[in-house]
Amino acid sequence: MESRKLLPFTPHPVIFNLCLLLPCTYFTLSHSAKLGNDTDKLALLAFKDQITHDPFATLSNWNNSVHFCRWNGVICGGRHERVVVLDLQSRNLTGTISPHIGNLTFVRNVNLRNNYFHGKIPKEMGCLYWLQVIGLTLNLLQGEIPINLTQCSEVRILNLVANSLEGRIPLELGKLEKLMGLGLAINKLTGPIPKSLANLTFLRDFSLSENRLRGDIPKELGQMRQLHMFQISSNGLLTGLIPAQIFNLSLVEYSLVSENQLVGEIPPDIGFTLPNVRMLLLGKNQFYGSIPSSISNASKLERLSIPFGQLTDSIPQDLGKLKNLVELNLRRNKLGFGEGNDLGFLSPLVNCTKLEVLAFFNNILSGVLPNHITDFSSNLIYLLMEANRISGSIPNDIQKLENLISIGM
Ligand SMILES: *[C@@H]1O[C@H](CO)[C@@H](O)[C@H](O)[C@H]1NC(C)=O
Ligand SMILES: *[C@@H]1O[C@H](CO)[C@@H](O)[C@H](O)[C@H]1NC(C)=O
Ligand SMILES: *[C@@H]1O[C@H](CO)[C@@H](O)[C@H](O)[C@H]1NC(C)=O
Ligand SMILES: *[C@@H]1O[C@H](CO)[C@@H](O)[C@H](O)[C@H]1NC(C)=O
Ligand SMILES: *[C@@H]1O[C@H](CO)[C@@H](O)[C@H](O)[C@H]1NC(C)=O
Ligand SMILES: *[C@@H]1O[C@H](CO)[C@@H](O)[C@H](O)[C@H]1NC(C)=O
Ligand SMILES: *[C@@H]1O[C@H](CO)[C@@H](O)[C@H](O)[C@H]1NC(C)=O
Ligand SMILES: *[C@@H]1O[C@H](CO)[C@@H](O)[C@H](O)[C@H]1NC(C)=O
Repeated sequence: MESRKLLPFTPHPVIFNLCLLLPCTYFTLSHSAKLGNDTDKLALLAFKDQITHDPFATLSNWNNSVHFCRWNGVICGGRHERVVVLDLQSRNLTGTISPHIGNLTFVRNVNLRNNYFHGKIPKEMGCLYWLQVIGLTLNLLQGEIPINLTQCSEVRILNLVANSLEGRIPLELGKLEKLMGLGLAINKLTGPIPKSLANLTFLRDFSLSENRLRGDIPKELGQMRQLHMFQISSNGLLTGLIPAQIFNLSLVEYSLVSENQLVGEIPPDIGFTLPNVRMLLLGKNQFYGSIPSSISNASKLERLSIPFGQLTDSIPQDLGKLKNLVELNLRRNKLGFGEGNDLGFLSPLVNCTKLEVLAFFNNILSGVLPNHITDFSSNLIYLLMEANRISGSIPNDIQKLENLISIGM
């Protein structure tokens, strides 16, 4: 049974490239700059010096016979030929990030995503006044997030997802008031979520999953009215209630808080306060009480996953209204009354034609299995209902569910 924990119910929910939700190209406009000299060229050569392995020979044309504005990964802008974009993503580069990057005075977009950069993020990047996008996702960077980065007051996207960064989240990040995407997931960050982040009122994507953060979720974060993605899952040590203000951010599409020590009831009006929600992943916490019936009003919902909780009472009977539902995962709770018919929620699910995962094993649901289950979506892959108090017989035409790879009775 425990091996089921590993089933790929929900795809890895961390969205690495925060730009998926943002028009990144917008950030590469050119601008007029003061007269250029060799500063940028020398800075780029110093950057190249710290690269120890370049298997695609990306930097092979970074030499004196080619103008630096035509070097691979470099874009110049303005009338005076200054570097505005350094884009070396996915080039398998190994090395450290040279502090001389701080001399690219007019750079707006630094994208070193998906390489093997190690060592620290240079403090000198904090001198880059025009910097709008810092993309360092998927590298091997260590050390703390330099506080100097918070001097880059034009930054819209700071994406440090999937590195090995340590230490606390700097309070000063709250000063980056133009920030729209903050990606710190999959690192080794410790300490609390700073209240000061509430000042990031333009933030759309907020991703702190898979760190070692602890403590309560500040209610002040409810000021981030533009939030579309709230991701704090798999920290393990986040405690307390999810503040009502956060369940009240009406633009939220992804609310991913699983694998922490959060408690409380799911707000009864959640289906109204989060009308745009597409993924609601609350599992492996200590949520109790019933599943609010308002959830069926959240018509964009694709994944409702609340396994390993303390939920009780009946499962709402109108989830069939959720036409986009792909996953309903309520395993290992205390749902049902153990007698009478708790299975009224099942038949309406025939209307969820995209349903792939239906898992409610390990509860105390009782009743007679309805024949309707053979009318479930032909997309159904998992139908797991064992360890309940269900009786009746398996319908003869169960093979209509032709894509089923696992059935648990
Ligand atoms: C970068 O600027 C600093 C300070 O102006 C200077 O000392 C350093 O030599 C510059 N680096 C390069 C590679 O030109
Ligand atoms: C500089 O780069 C160009 C383009 O890759 C190459 O043809 C040329 O041989 C290089 N020059 C030197 C001196 O390495
Ligand atoms: C680049 O890295 C990827 C991922 O580690 C690897 O599969 C690929 O073989 C590497 N390519 C080269 C040319 O080193
Ligand atoms: C980092 O910021 C501090 C405080 O503003 C400043 O004194 C220092 O020079 C900065 N360091 C670099 C390398 O930019
Ligand atoms: C937000 O910024 C203001 C002004 O800089 C500051 O006074 C306030 O304490 C900040 N809010 C939080 C929650 O840190
Ligand atoms: C939720 O938002 C509504 C309208 O935006 C507001 O009236 C209400 O007070 C908010 N509730 C909480 C708990 O923040
Ligand atoms: C919510 O769903 C209920 C039950 O289907 C329906 O009667 C009600 O009109 C819906 N409310 C809103 C605000 O959509
Ligand atoms: C499925 O949807 C149709 C049309 O909206 C409705 O008439 C029917 O009652 C629903 N079926 C179930 C089992 O809820």
